[in-house]
Amino acid sequence: MSDTEDGRIERYPPALRLLHWVRALLVLGLIAAGWTMTRMSDAQVARYGDLYPWHKSFGLLVLMIVLVQLAIRARARLPEPPAALPRHEAMLSRVVHRTMYALLVVVPVMGYSMSSTYTHSDGVPFFGLPVPELLPKNDHWFAVFQWLHRVLAYTLLGLVALHVGGALKHRFLDRDRRADVLPRMW
Ligand code: HEM
Ligand code: HEM
Repeated sequence: MSDTEDGRIERYPPALRLLHWVRALLVLGLIAAGWTMTRMSDAQVARYGDLYPWHKSFGLLVLMIVLVQLAIRARARLPEPPAALPRHEAMLSRVVHRTMYALLVVVPVMGYSMSSTYTHSDGVPFFGLPVPELLPKNDHWFAVFQWLHRVLAYTLLGLVALHVGGALKHRFLDRDRRADVLPRMW
């Protein structure tokens, strides 16, 4: 189905639009929670220790949402980059989208791998259901996965900032109104 008479698609499919905003909220919440929980004192951990299982559960939920998005994306007709966008900006946005998708898969997988290899792990719950920890316990690999989870999560945050900055620039600074991409995702 197309949005215009000449067959061009003007907006993302409704399922991708809905999942984009749900996932955006979840990812920003996860980064805020991750940052907070890793800076808590022992007394705060005792009090707000539930942040860990919630972080793991919502992190796995994001992984599932992203896999669903990629499956929908593979079948759907998606809008072309707006013709009003200079080539280098269209290319930059494509690279940023692809890198964000890659990180949205790798970051939760690193989180799971970290918890799974951690010798003193409390387990990986998915909203109360125990998820099997498939990797062997190993302190060295735990440290590697922990480092990757942290560095890649903050790299994702940097890309999200660039992404949001780009969307706002197209809406508010670009003279050509056809460069505004927000209605395509709204
Ligand atoms: C954690 C936060 C976010 C993540 C991870 C994220 C990720 C993405 C990804 C991967 C795409 C590509 C969609 C596809 O081709 O399937 C996309 C598109 C888009 N996002 Fe975000 N996004 C986030 C937050 C936001 C916010 C806050 C805004 C608004 C200011 C926004 C505006 C858009 C727009 C307008 C598009 C469509 C771009 C186009 O038409 O080419 N995103 N986003
Ligand atoms: C998109 C999904 C996820 C994002 C964006 C994310 C983000 C983060 C961030 C920013 C931190 C703080 C890192 C630091 O400052 O040291 C963190 C910590 C943590 N995350 Fe995630 N996370 C995600 C998914 C997961 C998953 C699926 C799990 C496990 C199943 C997980 C387990 C953990 C654990 C255990 C910590 C604490 C690490 C420590 O104590 O050093 N995360 N996460």
